[in-house]
Amino acid sequence: MALRNIVTEGDPILRKVCRPVGEVTPRIQMILDDMVETMRDANGVGLAAPQIGIMRRMFVAEPEPERVFCFVDPEIIVMEGEQDSEEGCLSVPGMVGDVKRPEKIVIQGLDRYGKTQKYKFEGFDAIVMCHEFDHLEGVLYVDKAENVRPAEALAEEEEK
Ligand code: NI
Repeated sequence: MALRNIVTEGDPILRKVCRPVGEVTPRIQMILDDMVETMRDANGVGLAAPQIGIMRRMFVAEPEPERVFCFVDPEIIVMEGEQDSEEGCLSVPGMVGDVKRPEKIVIQGLDRYGKTQKYKFEGFDAIVMCHEFDHLEGVLYVDKAENVRPAEALAEEEEK
């Protein structure tokens, strides 16, 4: 496995609609494994392929340690309710913002082995999956967020 460079806001690659993967080949599996390693190295809870410069519809997520998901060609087929989310993004370093997200989703797609998987997520899991899914459409959380602010300001507030 290898660490990949994470591209940041301003790079046009983050603004493109990604193409379907289709078949999960060994090369795709290698990219997914690199994405997990890169996400963990950056202390992230999710990473989408365009964030490492690959314009394909796939992302990885680890909403809590050791609970890793790989989604290839995902579709969100149900969205229910609404929740407030405070989000950051590895491609928008140092910033956080407030976003409205669905409370519950159902998402299906292929897993790392090319098998169909379908999950119901709620709470923080649903936030992470929706955030990563948006990357595949060229959407960043800052497009939807209010009060985008430096993350340091929050840390200082909490210290006080
Ligand atoms: Ni992101």
